[in-house]
Amino acid sequence: MVQTLIIVGGQWGDEGKGKIVDFLTEKADVIVRFAGGNNAGHTVVVGEKTYKFHLIPSGIIHKGKLNIISNGTVLDPDVLVSEIKTLENMDFDIGKSLIISSSAHTILEKHRVEDNPEKNPESKKIGTTGRGIGPCYKDKIARTGIRMGDYVTKNTASAQKLRPLIQDTYIIIDTAYKKGKKILFEGAQGTLLDIDHGTYPYVTSSNPTAGGALTGSGFGPTKIDSVIGIFKAYITRVGEGPFPTELGTYNQTKNEDSIYDLKKELSDEAFTRLNRKVTSAANNDDEYSQGRLLRMQGFEYGTTTGRPRRTGWFDAVAAKYAIAINGLSSLVITKVDVLNHLKEIKICIGYEVDGKKLDHFPLDTEQQEKAKPIYTSMPGWDDDITQITSFKDLPKNAQDYLEKIEEICKVPISIVSVGPKRSQTIIKDKETLL
Ligand code: GDP
Ligand code: IMO
Ligand code: MG
Repeated sequence: MVQTLIIVGGQWGDEGKGKIVDFLTEKADVIVRFAGGNNAGHTVVVGEKTYKFHLIPSGIIHKGKLNIISNGTVLDPDVLVSEIKTLENMDFDIGKSLIISSSAHTILEKHRVEDNPEKNPESKKIGTTGRGIGPCYKDKIARTGIRMGDYVTKNTASAQKLRPLIQDTYIIIDTAYKKGKKILFEGAQGTLLDIDHGTYPYVTSSNPTAGGALTGSGFGPTKIDSVIGIFKAYITRVGEGPFPTELGTYNQTKNEDSIYDLKKELSDEAFTRLNRKVTSAANNDDEYSQGRLLRMQGFEYGTTTGRPRRTGWFDAVAAKYAIAINGLSSLVITKVDVLNHLKEIKICIGYEVDGKKLDHFPLDTEQQEKAKPIYTSMPGWDDDITQITSFKDLPKNAQDYLEKIEEICKVPISIVSVGPKRSQTIIKDKETLL
């Protein structure tokens, strides 16, 4: 039986962690967000409603659960208060369902100023979210930061609002564990953005990996039953940095219209025509169009700016790396529906660097930048799979694609997601789930 489960992003973020955390929360009692700050954006779709969370655990929508923001996070008080107020306006009883660690660190105005990509060439080089994440963690490590327990003693409106929610959260987590409660640790970002294990320096400033769930919450490794990694059926990256399976160039992507501009300028009919044109070019081996199709069908556009995200084929070399770093018990593959209508789908099974074959993920930035993907190809499917509810009802080619990922990665897939809604979730193997 699984009592404690860590959920991490297996790629460069935005893998659909929010959706899966919400889905699995039904069986959980306590949800702990353990790292990062409001650089994260987790989207949860329930019925006709779409919720977007930056700091509050995605478990909050299920009433009667305890949500904890633990010590590994960095919190911008104004953003947190605004997220709380939005939920209170929707009748969520935050006082009963949210607790914040006294030792989480506080993002201050100076951190946001320092991280402004318009003014700081370092932030621009990495393509940070500009939310003050790096500078706040820098102060934490230099032992000059302000922890939430101290922040809330101030006399500001935000401090007053947050004061009743502050507690020493490790005790609460430990007590719940001893009572047999089910605990779900919710990661933000992704393995390849990890400060230690990611594509440094193009990373975030925390440990979004499984180890970070432990230091970030004060929970011991011997008490973890299962760790699952969320992966898209392809891969995306926001911001700068190496990307071996990128389709088209970053410049081509950057120069594309934002989805909002596209929708504004084009009628629905013209938009459908463009989609058809891109699909046709994609199925005629045009790599940039393949990437563009993933972007359009997967709605891969930044939540705030609408700018296009970089897209590429599933990178099994990077996935195997994530499996090793996190000790993954199973994989969750999301957005499989986005691959609908592609004639051929590729999986990267190795890299070539300077003419030599490499079958593991290199840690050297130059090698990561030089890595050329070696692919295996799988036939696609033309059916719409968004209403399918069991693995055996998926088109044979979709089943084969997913089983190929299992075969290469040597880890079972527990969940397949075919759309943003709760109902669009297929449980393939529940052994490693709550
Ligand atoms: P997170 O940061 O890992 O929580 O992921 P985001 O929420 O930033 O991005 C994932 C996006 O894909 C969200 O808009 C989700 O609603 C959406 N999504 C999640 N799973 C699926 C899926 O299986 N299919 C499709 N089409 N969309 C999905
Ligand atoms: P979720 O939780 C995707 C990326 C930024 C940038 C780098 C460093 O939604 O998956 P930072 O502001 O953290 O110093 O930026 O990390 N990044 C993310 N990319 N999803 C995220 O979170 C991210 N959080 C940070 O784009 O490249
Ligand atoms: Mg996101």
